[in-house]
Amino acid sequence: MRITLSVIKADIGGYVGHSESHPDILALAEEHMAKAKANGLLIDFHVTKCGDDLQLIMTHQHGEGNKEIHKLAWDTFINGTELAKKLKLYGAGQDLLSDAFSGNVKGMGPGVAEMEIEERKSEPIVIFMADKTSSGAWNMPLYKMFADPFNTIGLVIAPGLHTGFGFEVHDVKEHRKITLNTPEEAYDLLVFIGAPSRYATKAVYSREAKEIAAVSSTQRLSLIAGRYVGKDDPVCIVRCQGMFPAVGEVLDPFSLPHLVEGWMRGSHHGPFMPVAVEDSTPSRFDGPPRVIALGFQLADGKLVGPRDMFADKSFDNARQQANDIADYMRRHGPFEPHRLPLDEMEYTTMPQIAKRLAGRFQHLAD
Ligand code: F6R
Ligand code: MG
Ligand code: MG
Repeated sequence: MRITLSVIKADIGGYVGHSESHPDILALAEEHMAKAKANGLLIDFHVTKCGDDLQLIMTHQHGEGNKEIHKLAWDTFINGTELAKKLKLYGAGQDLLSDAFSGNVKGMGPGVAEMEIEERKSEPIVIFMADKTSSGAWNMPLYKMFADPFNTIGLVIAPGLHTGFGFEVHDVKEHRKITLNTPEEAYDLLVFIGAPSRYATKAVYSREAKEIAAVSSTQRLSLIAGRYVGKDDPVCIVRCQGMFPAVGEVLDPFSLPHLVEGWMRGSHHGPFMPVAVEDSTPSRFDGPPRVIALGFQLADGKLVGPRDMFADKSFDNARQQANDIADYMRRHGPFEPHRLPLDEMEYTTMPQIAKRLAGRFQHLAD
């Protein structure tokens, strides 16, 4: 059975500040989704949040980029924004960059990750959702899941995985893409994805089965809008087991709270903290950046679940380490490398200050 899994998300208002989503907004989204399920547009759905981002997880049979599905998400965000305005939530409608829907939410602000698949006999999937960071945050975990045998022993000893995986990498600044195959092009791949502010992994494919294994959202709101409107707070769908990494191999990369860009004012490096959904409430210096993971079994498109995968105690050390790293990084205050390099800063007064002080700079004698 061919099933499309669409995850479409947007920050349409924060509660309080940028730290959380309001329960009334989630309830309203739930109503919209339930109606769409009742009238047959959706097979199933799950509404959740990660920090201040509203997450719509939908299954259907209309393929990727479908106008009706995207319109459903868009209308949900628009109606949610009206409610957010009534509640005077913070930054109501912040990710909706356009007033008029034109057939597809891509480029309009919301983040989108979609995959159309032939549902296997058993189809375990994990959906990762992040707050206070950008899409390059998935590069290291995806590399570990699909290309690093120190993380995924299946690459060494499971026949379906041994052939390796293809990584589709997007250059988010120049709007170009390249596919590189691991293991033989792993070093070439790392040249690019090791620079996550510019190169983001859009999708991963099984070379053996020629099947999609993972897909992420790569919208960069700041580049779409041409001015700061928030980090993209990306999502990523990963298929697990059989010809793909096992659930445990997919989750293990997050035991390292690696440094990602985002956090306060989208302008800092901070540890990526794996948390349960209820703990996706970035409050300390608007962070540190969070990631949640919901696991589902697909059953003819029905979303059986979710299981809150990072609620597991085995991620306690990662959270502790993330807090320790957060302490250490925060002590750098406004200094790099806690603060992002100047050209990556989303909120910067640098141009105004440089202009004001231009006349006071004097050339150094050689
Ligand atoms: C980061 C983020 C927050 C805001 C900060 C200032 O992605 O959303 O850290 O940048 O709270 O927000 P404003 O400028 O809306 O007061
Ligand atoms: Mg916000
Ligand atoms: Mg957010």
